[in-house]
Amino acid sequence: MESPEATKAWLDWYKAIGVDEALSDHALNRLTDVAEADAPVKAPPPPPSQRLPPAQQAQAPALAPGAGQAGADAAAIAAKCATLAELAEAVAAFTGCPLRTPATRTVFSDGAPDAPVMVIGEAPGAEEDRLGKPFVGPSGRLLDQMLAAIGLDRQRNVYITNVIFWRPPANRAPTPIETAICLPFVERQIALLRPRVLILSGSVSARTVLSRTDGITKFRGRWMTDSNVPVLENIATIATFHPSYLLRSPGQKRETWKDFLLVKMKLQELGILT
Ligand code: URA
Repeated sequence: MESPEATKAWLDWYKAIGVDEALSDHALNRLTDVAEADAPVKAPPPPPSQRLPPAQQAQAPALAPGAGQAGADAAAIAAKCATLAELAEAVAAFTGCPLRTPATRTVFSDGAPDAPVMVIGEAPGAEEDRLGKPFVGPSGRLLDQMLAAIGLDRQRNVYITNVIFWRPPANRAPTPIETAICLPFVERQIALLRPRVLILSGSVSARTVLSRTDGITKFRGRWMTDSNVPVLENIATIATFHPSYLLRSPGQKRETWKDFLLVKMKLQELGILT
């Protein structure tokens, strides 16, 4: 048995490196229980909905390389969902993404289900995991302020989601395999919402949705008319810096403000804002 001082030293050290949540009541020995911990989890059978018209079935979400069986399952399940509510249920029931196990909640979306503007961020953080809604922590508050500055808000005309639906442990960046597994659900969300304008917030979101590998500074701040991503056809899509990056690098707020002004002008052009 460790002394209380030694236990406290361990806890302080865990906290210092960002391990701030207990994942389970039972300790997992990563040296001996790896096979169980890392075994692929079989996805449940798709929900019973058969209501999707054939025309929409043809628009099945793309399957990203590296996503494996879990990605194929996600694509099959997503294609059968005919409404955002069905998709939310299907994502909550999906066990194919390894991030689901350590997370407390599935964080699917927030905002107006008929919104003309969609924002896609990276992944839930601690507050999002606790409340089950995207962008409700410090970066969410900054995002809300930026949206309000151009006449938008999530109660009325914005729908918000992430490329990952479960908080990565200790807020680490999601891996390309994790984003690839979730991508069919993200694409289906875009297809069902059909926003007029899509804001990709941060490099993980932008690279995942646009299927790019270059840095966001190379392509942010312009309309992605050449994206060649089928689901983005006729949706004005723009990538911009993530609010959590702006909190760390406030000097970039000026550039981001220019991106938001482009969004405002586009919405005026489309007759959505006056
Ligand atoms: N950062 C994100 O990208 N999404 C959230 O929901 C919260 C923080």
